[in-house]
Amino acid sequence: MSAPGVRYDATFDCWVVTDPELVRRALREPALSAQTLEAATVAFLPSEVRDECAPLLDTLRRWFVTLDGEPHRRRRQAVAHLFSPRHVRAFDGALTEIAEAAVGRYAARGGDAVPAIADVVAAQGIAALLDLGGVPHERLTAWARSVSEFLATSYRADRARAAQAALDEMAASVLERPGALPGVAPDDPAERLATVSMLLFGGMETTSGLVGFALWYLVANQLSDRVAADPSGAEAETVVERALELLSPIGHVARLALRPVRIGDAEVPPGALVLLALHGEDVLDQPEMPARCPAHAPARRDHLAFGGGPHFCIGAPLARAIAGAAVTAFARALPSATVRELRWRDSPTFRGPASLVLSPETSEPDRR
Ligand code: HEM
Repeated sequence: MSAPGVRYDATFDCWVVTDPELVRRALREPALSAQTLEAATVAFLPSEVRDECAPLLDTLRRWFVTLDGEPHRRRRQAVAHLFSPRHVRAFDGALTEIAEAAVGRYAARGGDAVPAIADVVAAQGIAALLDLGGVPHERLTAWARSVSEFLATSYRADRARAAQAALDEMAASVLERPGALPGVAPDDPAERLATVSMLLFGGMETTSGLVGFALWYLVANQLSDRVAADPSGAEAETVVERALELLSPIGHVARLALRPVRIGDAEVPPGALVLLALHGEDVLDQPEMPARCPAHAPARRDHLAFGGGPHFCIGAPLARAIAGAAVTAFARALPSATVRELRWRDSPTFRGPASLVLSPETSEPDRR
């Protein structure tokens, strides 16, 4: 029972949609619910940790990315003002400073640009917007990583416990901060914790993946001179958009069929879990990450890296601004850098470089 761009997978008892046009439509289909937490995560949780991690599950059940209809709309509305392009633009100066400082330290020390630049600009950029500036970026990164590792492998008791511990730490250190998350559920600590944990989780691994890939693309295609020479920022924007087009930092999103729903030629039954690929490849196949960097070309904007429909990524303007600042700062500070080593993350869900070692200078053109 398979159709072009849609197939049923008996091993994982789920449907996989790869055709971008069908994915685009499915993301807007009201019969496909975003409430997948029970089917995709809780169902796999070892019974011995269910009670122990009840507060973690309660928090995840409040994440508006896993809610539909009015409850989703209301919660999204409560934070939308923070992510409007206009509000994000007001942080341009702060994001530039963050990026220049991270790149400056990297220029002095070298090494792996993922922890030194990508993780730092992602964490500090999001923290600036949410007014969490006083929390060290290493802690923000560690919390977000614990939660994403749990979501990717919820059958592991150790990962569930680590995510619960990260959430407890986050609650203790974030909720008390006077300015954090301005205007969001001021009298409801559980709701505030849910919102801040979802924003940190949603933004950090993804934005770090984007920045890592964009730096690789910039250096491997030797685009630094033109990016550095362009005061408008358009060249840097093209690099970022091309990175999003070539490598969606999230491999897929999940939905649950509420009633029979037609996707392409397939009739998906109620209760079925549906995985929607954001990169046009089968999400259950071993991902094939590029060994050589794709050549530079005009960027397309019709990619699905930020999803679509009512759950379209609220953080897209911020992610683009953080990545643009990082690419510009790097191009200006290290215009002759070359790629020494690249290793990919092994997660099919959170994609991007696991490590990216760059050399500050070389005379040899190198497109690895
Ligand atoms: C390159 C970076 C990013 C990528 C690739 C990305 C990708 C996505 C995708 C694909 C979705 C849709 C999820 C679904 O349909 O189930 C989404 C939703 C979301 N993203 Fe992002 N994201 C990024 C950065 C960010 C940032 C920086 C934040 C906030 C700090 C953020 C917060 C969210 C939230 C809250 C949602 C849920 C929106 C809703 O349900 O209405 N994301 N993101």
